Amino acid sequence: MSPVRFLTGITTSGTPHLGNYVGSIRPAVRASLTPGVESFYFLADYHALIKVDDPARIQRSTLEIAASWLAAGLNPEHVTFYRQSDVPEIPELTWFLTCVTGKGILNRAHAYKASVDKNAAAGLDPDADVTAGLFMYPVLMGADILMFNAHKVPVGRDQIQHIEMARDMASSFNHRYGEHFVPPQAVIEEAVATLPGLDGRKMSKSYDNTIPLFAPREQLKKLISGIVTDSRAPGEPKDTEGSALFQIYQAFATEAETQALRQAYAQGIAWADAKHMLLERIDQEIAPMRASYQSLMDKPSRIEDALLAGAEKARRIATPFMSRLRQAVGLRSLGQMPQEKSAKQSKSAVASFKQYREPDGKFYFKLVDSQGAILIQSLGFDSPKDAGQAVALLKLEGVEALNRLAAQVEDISLEKRELIASELAGMQST
Ligand code: TRP
Repeated sequence: MSPVRFLTGITTSGTPHLGNYVGSIRPAVRASLTPGVESFYFLADYHALIKVDDPARIQRSTLEIAASWLAAGLNPEHVTFYRQSDVPEIPELTWFLTCVTGKGILNRAHAYKASVDKNAAAGLDPDADVTAGLFMYPVLMGADILMFNAHKVPVGRDQIQHIEMARDMASSFNHRYGEHFVPPQAVIEEAVATLPGLDGRKMSKSYDNTIPLFAPREQLKKLISGIVTDSRAPGEPKDTEGSALFQIYQAFATEAETQALRQAYAQGIAWADAKHMLLERIDQEIAPMRASYQSLMDKPSRIEDALLAGAEKARRIATPFMSRLRQAVGLRSLGQMPQEKSAKQSKSAVASFKQYREPDGKFYFKLVDSQGAILIQSLGFDSPKDAGQAVALLKLEGVEALNRLAAQVEDISLEKRELIASELAGMQST
C-alpha cells in the first residue's frame, strides 16, 4: 500500500510562539515519525506576502520558523521540508486551478467575507483595501495541497473551509481533464486545538498575547508572571476552569502532573507558585531545543542549504506532475500534434472485426464501425476457427460472402448491407 501523505504549510509572517508549538509543530514532528506516513512541511512565504509587506520581516520569519521546526526535531531526511517559493510549479498550478474555480466560491471564503463585512459595516466600498491576493488565497493553498496529492492536511479549525475548497478544485479539474488529483481531508488536533495566551484569549499574534517559543528563560519567566489570574489569595482554593495558566500547563504536562496541579489548585496554591511550576515545566521541554535553535539561528546558510535540498526533493514530484497536467489541459508541444489521417488511412480505420467468446461457451465475431456501432453480428460458432474462417471470407470476398454466411449472422437490412459493402471494400483496399 502506498503511504498516507500529510502536508501542511506555515505562513512566514511572524515569530513562532508556544501556541504554534503545541498546536502545530509538536504534533507534526510526532506525526512525521509515524511509520507509513509521508510528510510534507513547507514555509508558505507566498501566503505571507498577502499579509506582510515588510521584506525584512518575511526573511526573518522564514529563518525563525525553519530553525524552530528543525530544533523541534523535524528530520529533513525523513520528510520533505521546503520553502513554497522554491517550487515554481506551485504558482503555475495556482493558475490552472484559478481557471476551474468559480469566483462565487471565493466570494464566500471566510477571510475575504470578513473583510467585506467589515468594510460594509464601516460604510466603505465592499472591496476597500482588499487585494486580489487575499481573494486568491484559497487557490494558492489548493495548489500547495494538490501539487503533492496530499491525503491529510493538519490545520486549525479556521482552515477547514480552505480544505473543502481544495476538494472542490480537485474535482472540478478532474471532471474536465481526467483523474489527476486526490481530494484532501482536513485533520484537526482536537485535544490541543488552541492554547490560551497571556490574557486568556487564544494565543495569537493579532492579540499581542503570545509567548515566543524560544524566548530566553529570563524572558519566559517574565512573560509567565504576566499571565492573567484572578485575585484569590494564597490558601484560597482556585478554579482550574477558565484558568489560562492551568491550560498552558496541561498542554505540556503528563496526566499525572496535570492531576497534581489540579489538586494544588484545590488546596489553594499561591499564583506565584503555580507560575513557577509552569515555568519549570515548559523549560524542561523547551530548553534542550532552545540550544539547537540558537545554533541554527547563528548559521542561516545551513538552513538555506536544508531548504534548497528540500525543494529539490519536492520538485522531483512537482516537475513531472506539472508536465503531466500541462499535457492534460492542452499546453503541449506542437512537435507532438496528433497526425491528421490521410484519406486512405482514415478509411481503413473506419471499421474493424472483433472476435470474442461469450459465457455460453460459443465463439462470435462482429463488425463494428468507428463509432462502435455493430454492422454485422454473428451467431455462435462452436470453435474459434469457424468464426475466424467466416471473418476471413468476409475480408476476402466482401459483402457477397454474406449470402453464404446468412445462416451464421443476424439478419441484416438492405440499407445496412450497403454500408457493410462500402466498409468491407475499404478494408480490402488497404
Ligand atoms: N493557510 C494556512 C494557515 O494560515 C497556511 C497554509 C498555506 C497551509 N498553505 C497551506 C496549510 C497548505 C495547509 C496546507 O495556517
